[in-house]
Amino acid sequence: MLERIEKLRVAGTEAIVDASSSAELEELRVRFLGRKAELTQILRGIAQLPAAERGPVGGAANKARKELEALIEQSAERAGAAELDARLVADRVDVTLPGAPPRPLGHQHLIARTTRLIEDIMVGLGYEVAEGPEIEHDYYNFTALNHPADHPARMLQDTFYVRSHPDVLLRTHTSPMQIRAMETQGPPLFIVIPGKVYRRDSDATHSPMFHQMEGLAVAEGLTLADLQGTLLAMSRALFGDTREVRLRPHYFPFTEPSVEVDVSCFQCEGTGVLPGGGRCNLCKGQGWIEILGAGMVDPNVLGFVEDHGYDPERVQGFAFGLGIERVAMLRHSIPDLRRFFDNDVRMLEQFS
Ligand code: DAH
Repeated sequence: MLERIEKLRVAGTEAIVDASSSAELEELRVRFLGRKAELTQILRGIAQLPAAERGPVGGAANKARKELEALIEQSAERAGAAELDARLVADRVDVTLPGAPPRPLGHQHLIARTTRLIEDIMVGLGYEVAEGPEIEHDYYNFTALNHPADHPARMLQDTFYVRSHPDVLLRTHTSPMQIRAMETQGPPLFIVIPGKVYRRDSDATHSPMFHQMEGLAVAEGLTLADLQGTLLAMSRALFGDTREVRLRPHYFPFTEPSVEVDVSCFQCEGTGVLPGGGRCNLCKGQGWIEILGAGMVDPNVLGFVEDHGYDPERVQGFAFGLGIERVAMLRHSIPDLRRFFDNDVRMLEQFS
């Protein structure tokens, strides 16, 4: 019996020493020390042994049991620690690694950038920036801007009307915000209004949706010279320090007098002739490029907001409206306006 106990002790010890995982050790604990294990059975059967054997067998079996228990405990501790280390290594997240795959940062669309640029220039001149609704009432888009009832721009081919509401339309210009701004703030008023506008129009230089920047200044004593100086400052900031502007008579319902504004061509320096001798293609040999419409606010328009502090006898205003796509096309030599809205990133990424 003593020999058998010694064999079990040695076999158990060897197996425990060889075991490499806590799962294996748990199996060995069941095999050598569990309820059905041989050593357990021996200990249970001690009472049935002859009296003389009980002491030595019980002592040896208990000692073997304690030894194996202690050994399993030690080994389990060691295996547990090693397993934890291995898990920590396997599960490690290196927070300093770049995301995979790394994504390039996006950038503003050229129209947004051009809008911000013009805003910045005008804010530098003391203007505030305002925005307004793209779905507009006929009153703000036309009536209060002094459009007679039969003005051609009201006709269906130019304007998108909301079918169920004949008085509601997609604004055809940012000018309705002139009225809305004057309704909310008294003079003096110096604001620019960027935004989307809509017209039934589509070709290389027209899109059914495009962007305008409206400008409005109303104060006592403003003249056409103030308009010209403002547009000169803006044109130089946009197209180069040596630009000149010229005003040509024109007609808009909401300004009187009305002008179209040209900037001297920045490709041929206003000569109409390229350095090599050929005709300048940008200004078509004219030396001037049309950039916007403008004028002195018609007193009739001020009449619509007289109750808000705009006495046509006391204050004067000037206004202008320019196409943001047109400015971007001129500044970056882009031949077709539709390219802005194709959303081909190869085109757009050139302007990051
Ligand atoms: N609203 C005009 C258009 O879309 C542009 C314009 C012309 C705006 C003259 C103005 C202005 O403020 O004074 O064609």
